[in-house]
Amino acid sequence: MPSSLKGKVAIVTGGGRGIGKAIARRLAEAGAGVAIASRKLENLQATAAEFASLPGKIVPIACHVGRLDQLENLVRETEAQLGPVNILVNNSATNVHQGSALDITDDMLDKMVEINVKSILRLVRLTVPKMIARKSGGSIINIASIAGLEPQAGGLLYSFTKAGVLMITRSLAREFGQFGVRVNAIAPGLIQTDFSAYFWKNEEHRRHLEANQPISRIGQPEEIAGMALYLASEDASFVTGQTFVIDGGATA
Ligand SMILES: NC(=O)c1ccc[n+]([C@@H]2O[C@H](COP(=O)([O-])OP(=O)(O)OC[C@H]3O[C@@H](n4cnc5c(N)ncnc54)[C@H](OP(=O)(O)O)[C@@H]3O)[C@@H](O)[C@H]2O)c1
Repeated sequence: MPSSLKGKVAIVTGGGRGIGKAIARRLAEAGAGVAIASRKLENLQATAAEFASLPGKIVPIACHVGRLDQLENLVRETEAQLGPVNILVNNSATNVHQGSALDITDDMLDKMVEINVKSILRLVRLTVPKMIARKSGGSIINIASIAGLEPQAGGLLYSFTKAGVLMITRSLAREFGQFGVRVNAIAPGLIQTDFSAYFWKNEEHRRHLEANQPISRIGQPEEIAGMALYLASEDASFVTGQTFVIDGGATA
């Protein structure tokens, strides 16, 4: 069992469903106060109600991660309701295009960068200076993807933003290590969530996956959450700048 997170405060973007929800649960089970943030408040409230009996308090906060004023409000509200932020899980993401690179428009490009990349740097800017000033250390966990390691058919935009997340992770780790702020990434393979339904609902894609992956099934959000808990905890005190692949061996 990783070290307790009692007294720690986390923000998990996209914490109302899928991988973010599983991570929020594990952090709250370990005692952290957790702000879960995304666009759909009802979804977040339902998750907070479901997790109400966990040791750590869950606070739902509506936030479009592409809007700076909403990110500022997220951090302000988290600090007001739970206290200073120690753990930041950048999990929200989108994918607006699948297909030929020649069909990618400027708007698609801007949107993908805004949601998948810019939001991470903005939240880092809003939280890390305070971690440094408090000399309290901190843990930033970025949810990337194996698509950021290898190009996927028709997935240029998504792969490019997730590759960006991996390089942001390594660069920030180099800069913030001296202040005790660790920065790591998790790169999941195919996990059964709404986000990836396009792939796992497709019979042909599913069969291809099962034939080529050593653990020949789709992963579940809970199988990502344990790594996030580890990275958030003191057990990972010497771990920074790394990418942890959890993909059933797909990239092995
Ligand atoms: N599932 C997979 O196979 C897989 C594989 C590799 C990596 N990942 C990564 O895992 C992370 C979580 O995805 P998931 O699979 O758990 O998908 P999911 O269940 O669909 O969750 C996506 C989350 O992102 C939030 N979100 C989307 N746009 C947002 C915005 N503009 N502002 C704020 N929040 C926003 C959604 O909440 P709202 O709709 O309420 O805003 C939702 O909570 C993503 O970074 C994804 O790239 C997933």
